[in-house]
Amino acid sequence: MKEEQSRQVVGVTGGGQGIGRAVAQSFAERGADVVVFDLEAQRQKAEETVRLVCAAGGQGAFIPLDVTATDQIGAAVEAGARAFGPFSVWINNAGVISRKAALEVQESDWDPVVDVCLKGTFFCAQAAARQMRTSGGGSIINMASVFGLTGGANRAAYAASKGGIVNLTRALAVEWFAYGIRVNAVAPTFVRTPLTDQLLTKGLDVPNMSFGERFATLDQVCAAIHFLASDGADAVTGHTLPVDLGWTAH
Ligand SMILES: NC(=O)c1ccc[n+]([C@@H]2O[C@H](COP(=O)([O-])OP(=O)(O)OC[C@H]3O[C@@H](n4cnc5c(N)ncnc54)[C@H](O)[C@@H]3O)[C@@H](O)[C@H]2O)c1
Repeated sequence: MKEEQSRQVVGVTGGGQGIGRAVAQSFAERGADVVVFDLEAQRQKAEETVRLVCAAGGQGAFIPLDVTATDQIGAAVEAGARAFGPFSVWINNAGVISRKAALEVQESDWDPVVDVCLKGTFFCAQAAARQMRTSGGGSIINMASVFGLTGGANRAAYAASKGGIVNLTRALAVEWFAYGIRVNAVAPTFVRTPLTDQLLTKGLDVPNMSFGERFATLDQVCAAIHFLASDGADAVTGHTLPVDLGWTAH
């Protein structure tokens, strides 16, 4: 049997609410220390996540970071490492969506989605990997989506970004394997969060879907992330794990 896993130091972007908050809390429940990165405008919610992390038995800190501010990412990651030590797990969770018919999409619809989801994921991964390379390795987990693996109407920028994350995950895994850094992704179906609540009020626009069968739980997404972050996944890198109730198997 393997020795028990050593204490994890986890960074999660977009940790102020939704999946990011659940991930932060669930790592703390497993004894990890967690740094929550989110927008300054989300301070109150991010500090609530930190409170939940501490209540779950971990140490927690909030560091304001807009993942599209690429000149600030390196300093934010270093500040995070000063709090609890170098990161062993980094989760690129921050994301936004915009829904519009592709024929109507403007640059002003496209850019924010691609900037947060894809550019933010890359530059945060780069900063985390620079640190992990000097500290002996780690696990980076990117937040893709079923829409990174299938098409979907009215979400061209989102689907392009999430599809980009799937292949970015492969590219980084190949390049950083030599440094002991594994890079994987999860691709959830719909999960109840403030993001989907907002979409649900406008009506989800996925053909042939029965909502009851299409929602995964926060716990199910967290479980997939824990596996990818664990020593048990030592041989797993470059992959995207769907948490989708079989959606993409069809
Ligand atoms: N909820 C779902 O059904 C679902 C399904 C598949 C994938 N995802 C993905 O999971 C991730 C989290 O989704 P969620 O439903 O929890 O969303 P959410 O909107 O509830 O939370 C997203 C968090 O990201 C933060 N964020 C947004 N822009 C940011 C930026 N520029 N810099 C830093 N933080 C920023 C927000 O402040 C917020 O705290 C996203 O990447 C989303 O695409 C969600």
